[in-house]
Amino acid sequence: MNTYIGIDLGTSGTKFLLVTGNGKILAENTQTYDVFYPHPGWSEQNPEDWFAAAMRGLRELLKGQDKAAVKGISFGGQMHGLVALDKDDNVIRPAILWNDGRTEKQTEYLNTIIGKEKLSAYTGNIAFAGFTAPKILWMKREEPENFKKIAKIMLPKDFLAYRLSGAFCTDYSDASGMLLLDVKNRRWSKEMCEICGISEQQLPKLYESYEVVGTLKEEIAETLGLSADVKVVAGAGDNAAAAVGTGVVGEGGCNISLGTSGTLFVSATSYREDKINALHSFCHADGGWHLMGCILSAASCNAWWSDKILQTNDYAKEQEGLEEELGKNDVYFLPYLMGERSPHNDVNARGAFIGMRPDTTRKQMTLAVLEGVAFALRDCLEAAKKNGVKIERTKLCGGGAKSPLWRKIIANVMDMPVDIPQTEQGPSYGGAMLAMVGCGEYRSVREAADAIVRIKETLLPDREIARRYAEKYDNFRLLYPALKDAFSEI
Ligand code: XUL
Repeated sequence: MNTYIGIDLGTSGTKFLLVTGNGKILAENTQTYDVFYPHPGWSEQNPEDWFAAAMRGLRELLKGQDKAAVKGISFGGQMHGLVALDKDDNVIRPAILWNDGRTEKQTEYLNTIIGKEKLSAYTGNIAFAGFTAPKILWMKREEPENFKKIAKIMLPKDFLAYRLSGAFCTDYSDASGMLLLDVKNRRWSKEMCEICGISEQQLPKLYESYEVVGTLKEEIAETLGLSADVKVVAGAGDNAAAAVGTGVVGEGGCNISLGTSGTLFVSATSYREDKINALHSFCHADGGWHLMGCILSAASCNAWWSDKILQTNDYAKEQEGLEEELGKNDVYFLPYLMGERSPHNDVNARGAFIGMRPDTTRKQMTLAVLEGVAFALRDCLEAAKKNGVKIERTKLCGGGAKSPLWRKIIANVMDMPVDIPQTEQGPSYGGAMLAMVGCGEYRSVREAADAIVRIKETLLPDREIARRYAEKYDNFRLLYPALKDAFSEI
């Protein structure tokens, strides 16, 4: 049977999956690398580390497998990161990541001097600090020598596609997060290129996520023991890829991802903009569109709290016995460790515990962290509702979805049924599915999703817990506005 490789280029590491055409996972591994925080609020990675991880991960994935069966490779990738190459294809500077907050001035310039109306007309979106265009403006101003050297601008997963196949390409879903794409018409925005001082020649060729961009380079195929006919398929931004992997395609599906970031993703067959500018309006990997709210720190809050502060990696033990406490916690946590994107668009926001008393326990603080992330995602849900979007149930994926406690919190804070797909590996599974469609195993992303995505469990909200969480959420909503000015002072 034909097999396909899905690669999810994430922030904490890259995940590799080998999947059969009927969706069975044959092998998987994860390769990690560092994130660098050279200044408070900045976050960078070295693209060469991604490529080295890709070669390690692919070698390991293919050990003992039938290499002749591999037909295609595709990707999900952390979005918005600025990867810039010079004319000789050298990486000019470390990639500036999606959760980097250095572009406060450039974001403000775009939103106030150019103006939100024009930005929305050109791209369907306003500027958020993590988007790529403000980073290009930052580089132009702060690193003019580097800026002058730019021959190619690409997104993180596109760097892998380029190194593996030689194709200078991107896909519409990921390109949407650059603030350079006319999302409605699926083409680069001439106006935005002009505003950023770049030309379309510096930007990759645009593809649908399921389209073939090329085949493996001879030398790569040889190193991996694969055929040079293996197709490389464009892939998608990690959230669109995750939505594919959880079967959220077509009209009105919802997926929540609890990864390093947290997202609420609503799929649609037609284009729509967020009138209150809290959500992103992007292309989807199935040929349609989506609205998405993104919180910058989700599972990363629990990782920070458990690994760094409590110094334990036994998350399950830390969460033991907390089910009894759902909806009763008086401690609140604001999860803004890296500032916040949706809905606040505030690079200065920071994490905070509020409501502690002499009898507050470690357990309550752990619970507050999980609840704080859920409340921040509820903010995104409320923004979607304000746009008239009806969401009746959601899928859940990402590393955080492995926690039974967190799943229950999400179901009750969102007050809707939560479907847990068989694999929580949304983006890498979605990447493999896009490879399947590109190679003709399925005729469309929808067909692939219908054929292979399965739900293993559904969590229903509990009336009483959901009621208590509704009250807690009202309290949570008071906290950011009360602290906003203090955040910008400190
Ligand atoms: C989405 C976003 C994050 C990253 C995480 O807009 O910035 O979800 O894609 O990898």
